[in-house]
Amino acid sequence: MKARLGILLSGRGSNFLAIHRATVRGELAAEISCVIANRADAPGLLKAREMGLPAYFVRTRGDREAYETEMAALLEQHRVQLVCLAGFMKILGPVLLRQFAGRILNIHPALLPAFPGLHAQEQAWRYGVKYAGCTVHFVDAGVDTGPVVAQAVVPVLDDDTPTALADRILEQEHRLYAEAIKFVIENQYVIDGRRVMKKK
Ligand code: GAR
Repeated sequence: MKARLGILLSGRGSNFLAIHRATVRGELAAEISCVIANRADAPGLLKAREMGLPAYFVRTRGDREAYETEMAALLEQHRVQLVCLAGFMKILGPVLLRQFAGRILNIHPALLPAFPGLHAQEQAWRYGVKYAGCTVHFVDAGVDTGPVVAQAVVPVLDDDTPTALADRILEQEHRLYAEAIKFVIENQYVIDGRRVMKKK
């Protein structure tokens, strides 16, 4: 049985496309059941439509309970088992967190807990760290704070620019997200407090 994934995105959608590629190649025993964007003109949403996937725009202004209820209904309608935030630039509230408790993943372009929030790659570059990277984590009510599922390290080069660094991190994001989804849908993990570990 293929796991049913729901993707939430706000922009370009390259992580969504990487996940989709992994499902098509059979690297991931999953299918993308629906894509929801909170920007009507998000390139990722337009691509999902072109690909013939169920794709929806939900406006995330105003009453969070109302718009999250709308999103939760769409995810339920498509019998989504795991929600994957892929560049979804909005903090989740109690409606989604409750309905999909322990079943929401996010990818962040930094080695959390360093550099949460926006423009993480540039934050890391400006700080002068020697190693940057990306993190897949379960989502809780904070900003990029949930239990870490997987991380990949990307060395920062002396002649890097924020854009060059972000491009190399993005390559790792595409690989890491599919791997982390596989790990989660195959139920290969146990959680002890914040620590997500491989089942023995
Ligand atoms: C990715 O770099 C993702 O890690 C980041 O947004 C980008 C979306 O790109 N997410 C965050 O910063 C979340 N805090 P994409 O639309 O091409 O996947």
